[in-house]
Amino acid sequence: MEPVTRRTVLVLGAVGAAAAVTGAGAFLWSQVDGGEPPAPDAVPPSEPGVPSAGILGEPEVLTSSQGRLELTLTAALTDVVVAGAQIRALTYNGSLPGPTLRVRPGDRISLAFSNRLDAPTNLHTHGLLVSPEGNGDNSFVTVEPGATFEYGFRLGRDHPPGVFWYHPHHHGNVAEQIFGGLYGAIIVEDESPVDHQAIEDRERVLVISDIGFDASGDLRVASAMDRMFGREGDLVMVNGQVGATLDLRPGARERWRVLNACTSRHLRLRLDGQRMQLLGIDGGRYPETPDVDEIVLVPGNRADLLVTAVEGESVLRTLPFDRGGLGMMGGPVSAVSGADLLAFRVSGAAAPTPGELPPQPTPRDLRRETMTGRRTLTLAMGGMGMMGGGMSFTIDGHEFDAARVDAEAALGTLEEWTLVNTSTMDHPFHLHTWQMQLIEVGGIPIAGVDWRDVVPVPAGSSTVVRIPFERLTGRSVYHCHILDHEDNGMMGVIRTT
Ligand code: C2O
Ligand code: CU
Ligand code: CU
Repeated sequence: MEPVTRRTVLVLGAVGAAAAVTGAGAFLWSQVDGGEPPAPDAVPPSEPGVPSAGILGEPEVLTSSQGRLELTLTAALTDVVVAGAQIRALTYNGSLPGPTLRVRPGDRISLAFSNRLDAPTNLHTHGLLVSPEGNGDNSFVTVEPGATFEYGFRLGRDHPPGVFWYHPHHHGNVAEQIFGGLYGAIIVEDESPVDHQAIEDRERVLVISDIGFDASGDLRVASAMDRMFGREGDLVMVNGQVGATLDLRPGARERWRVLNACTSRHLRLRLDGQRMQLLGIDGGRYPETPDVDEIVLVPGNRADLLVTAVEGESVLRTLPFDRGGLGMMGGPVSAVSGADLLAFRVSGAAAPTPGELPPQPTPRDLRRETMTGRRTLTLAMGGMGMMGGGMSFTIDGHEFDAARVDAEAALGTLEEWTLVNTSTMDHPFHLHTWQMQLIEVGGIPIAGVDWRDVVPVPAGSSTVVRIPFERLTGRSVYHCHILDHEDNGMMGVIRTT
């Protein structure tokens, strides 16, 4: 391996320069150049026949006040305009993406949910550390078409700040409903803001998602093959727009809350020519705020970013990412093409120089603590010829069964989980209700402290995480966040008592 400077180690989390440039090892954000050099002349993203989407907009923001957020959320098939075409998508409250919820630690959220879809659904608050039972973040709830459900839960006073999100979680319908447009961001604000005005000009939410339609404007129906690979849409949107533009002044510093809401697509984000600093991934924060050239977000991941504008034109793009394929059918099928996401224009009078970032708190590091248990989970894809001629997607040999408990943990214990992937595709692994500290990917230890709720588990490899089963009890789930794989059975039930 090449010599690694301290700065690079910080940024790579010791996954290493060598690993970061080869497709299958490129799971973490990295400072090294990611392979395909960006085109020297950045041009605004455009596709033939797709009119410019104009200036980037943002979803409506619903903010808590006096410790409460009360809202109504309705899921329905809605007429919307995407890339200049009138199409029918699934939306929350008629907008794509749904509204952004802004809350603080300690807040109570009361959400009157209404299902106007023609299929059962429910609501999951991805990454929030709240009860998985009753009318909390309960993935076992079914809200039938035409029915309503009152969700209510409270964030702990010590809830981590960061970017979270909500989406459907009714087993069997998840991929189709998220692909159709059902998602929105949740921001848990910092107790002592990183973002006082001396530092940042503006904060933005960037919900990145993909979607696909047929010629008559209906959502593309996934083929059997799509459901095995994990469906990807041909349109990649930011806040529901394709090819939007952002204008900034040189020196302006913005805080971007970036969400990968794609059903299967892995994002490998670059904004060449501009400065990006990473505050954290998911609900985790880094004690230092490294400069990064590239950020990999597997489905479900979020990045909390600072972007400082440098005069000129740039493009926010996602580069191709090889997430493996169905072994017997030949080479990689999902090394799909990248996409231009946003044109970024920086000109005009310079903004005032932003101040120094305040120091971030030192995160807890479970590598210094004694584990009370260890277990291994095996993620596998079975051969063809199963029921319906498809392929089986299992954890420890089982497809999901809501009536079975696959793992029991005692409140207050610390566990190390080794996630083994015996298959030819990557499976980003997500745990509800409890956070994970990423310890090792493919045998390479992570150098820094890295808390996430979705971790990469590369094809034919393994990942080690440590989990504090604290704060919350109840029955919850873990699963592959390629949501077609989850719907196909790659999900298990955990109960903490
Ligand atoms: Cu974002 Cu169980 O999911
Ligand atoms: Cu989740
Ligand atoms: Cu998977």
